[in-house]
Parts: sequence; C-alpha cells; structure tokens
Amino acid sequence: EASQPVTANKTPKTYADLVIGYSQIGAESRWRTANTLSIQESAQDLGVDLRFADAQQEQINQINAIRSFITQKVDLIGVSPIVADGWDAVFAEAKAAGIPIIVVDRTANVPDELITAFIGSDFVLEGERACEEMAQLLDQKGTIIELEGTVGSAPARDRKTGFHNCLKKYPEMQVLVSKSGDFTRAQGKTVLQGLIKQYGTDFDAIYAHNDDMALGAIELLKELGIKPGVEVKIVSIDAVEDAFKAMIAGDLNVTVECNPLLGPQFFETALKIVNGEPFERWVKSNEGIFRQATADQDLPKRRY
Ligand code: AHR
Repeated sequence: EASQPVTANKTPKTYADLVIGYSQIGAESRWRTANTLSIQESAQDLGVDLRFADAQQEQINQINAIRSFITQKVDLIGVSPIVADGWDAVFAEAKAAGIPIIVVDRTANVPDELITAFIGSDFVLEGERACEEMAQLLDQKGTIIELEGTVGSAPARDRKTGFHNCLKKYPEMQVLVSKSGDFTRAQGKTVLQGLIKQYGTDFDAIYAHNDDMALGAIELLKELGIKPGVEVKIVSIDAVEDAFKAMIAGDLNVTVECNPLLGPQFFETALKIVNGEPFERWVKSNEGIFRQATADQDLPKRRY
C-alpha cells in the first residue's frame, strides 16, 4: 500500500473547525450593538467556535483579551481597535505565535506585516460625503459645530480629515468648534450643552461623527426650543434605524452609511486565511447616503 506523501495537502478546515478569538470595543452606540450581533449571529449560523470578549471601552481589556486568545491557541484573532495607537507589541506576540489578525471596522497604526487583513469602511470618504451633503444643505455658507468620535480612534481621525479636506472647496463654510462626544448619545448631548454655553446658539449646523451623538444633540436642541433639522441642519454618520426615525420626524437631515454588518465577510476571510487560500487585504463595505426625502421608504428596508 502506497504511503501518504509527506507533502500531501492537509484537509481544508471548515467553519465548524474554526476557533476564533474576537475582541470587541464595547457597546457605545447602536452601530456597535448591530456590529456585535452580526459577528455573534454569523458565528452561530456557520457553526464557528467564537470566543468573544467585550472590552467595555478599555484598550487594556482588548490587549488582555488578545493575550488570552494567544494562550488558548485560537486559529485567528479578530479585533476592532478602540484607538489606533498602542497595538505593536500585542500584535507582534500574535504573529510570533503564528496567529493571524484581522482588524475589523477600525484600523490600527501598526506595520502592515502585523495585520493579515482589514474589513471595514473608508472613514475618510464618509467624512467627505458628510461635507458635500452639508454644502448642499447650507448652500455652501455657514458655521458648523463638529461633534467628534472617540479621541485617537481611526473613525474620529479620518471622518475629521475627510470633512475638513472637502471644506477647503467651500471657503464660506467654517467649523466653529470641534469637540469629542465619544460616540455616545449622552456625550453628544452634554458636550453640545457645554459648547452652547461657551459659544451661544449662533451656528447653522452640526456635523456629528455618528448618529448617536447627533441624536443626543437633537434632544438638547429641542429642550432649548431650537428646531433641529430646520434652524440647525444636522448631518451624521452610520445610518442606524433611529437616524431614519429622526429624519422622518424632520429632526436629522442626512445620515451617511457606515455598515456594521461585517460578520459574514469576517468569517469568510478568516476561513480563507486559515486554509491558505487567496483573500482580499481590505474588504471594503458598499455604503450609501440617506436623506429626509426618502427616509420613510428606506426605513422598512434597513437591517440595523
Ligand atoms: O468605528 C465605527 C464607529 O464606532 C461608528 O460610527 C460609531 O457609531 C461606533 O461607535
């Protein structure tokens, strides 16, 4: 009987063979909740053994989770980095242990060789789109309050860059002040409250790096007797269900989509990597722009 050649290909793994460690940021926004569900439900549907860790908004918890996944000898690690810096050491440890890393949603500032693939959106493009929408709404003229995302995070950095790059085309549109509301509804409201105390209510628009902060701002404007969407134009990013409800109510003008449903692409890429098959290094999301005019027709089709 012929013996198996030593070079024979191993049987490719199936989803049911995969053991995946996943470090999630936390639950700061509706977007994040939808993102977590997408990862967890996809794992369940595919039969993947998913070890999921919620870092509760702390980078150190993410680093500890990744170290624990390395000890558990998982096949691959997925991580959505809360901030962009500070990952070199732990990613290098995973690489040394032969465990590939897929960065999901937010990028990390590390040398290319420490990341096997990235799955997520082009945040700079989202910022540019938000600016073009704002230019339409303001007739290219007016002052804007910018509510930024988490300090040091890739989406806060890139959505600012995209917006401000595009603003150069519109010299009569200016950002009056920018401040972080940490991507939460509560902070969107309190940060705007502080800014209004400092700068007054003489501004024309709000650009929020996510829908949740815009929704918090809307709440405050209403309490102050200012009509959101009319007296103050509002553009935000994500396109979560509540943003459509706010557009239908006339409170929010535009939401630029950032798709959180990344579970299927994540596991498909993970399986290809583990089996040594060709894969895309950046799996980009296809995203749209949603406005008040069609919000009631769009809402029933939304999945998050
Ligand atoms: O990284 C994506 C951003 O994080 C989403 O826009 C925001 O809502 C979330 O918290």
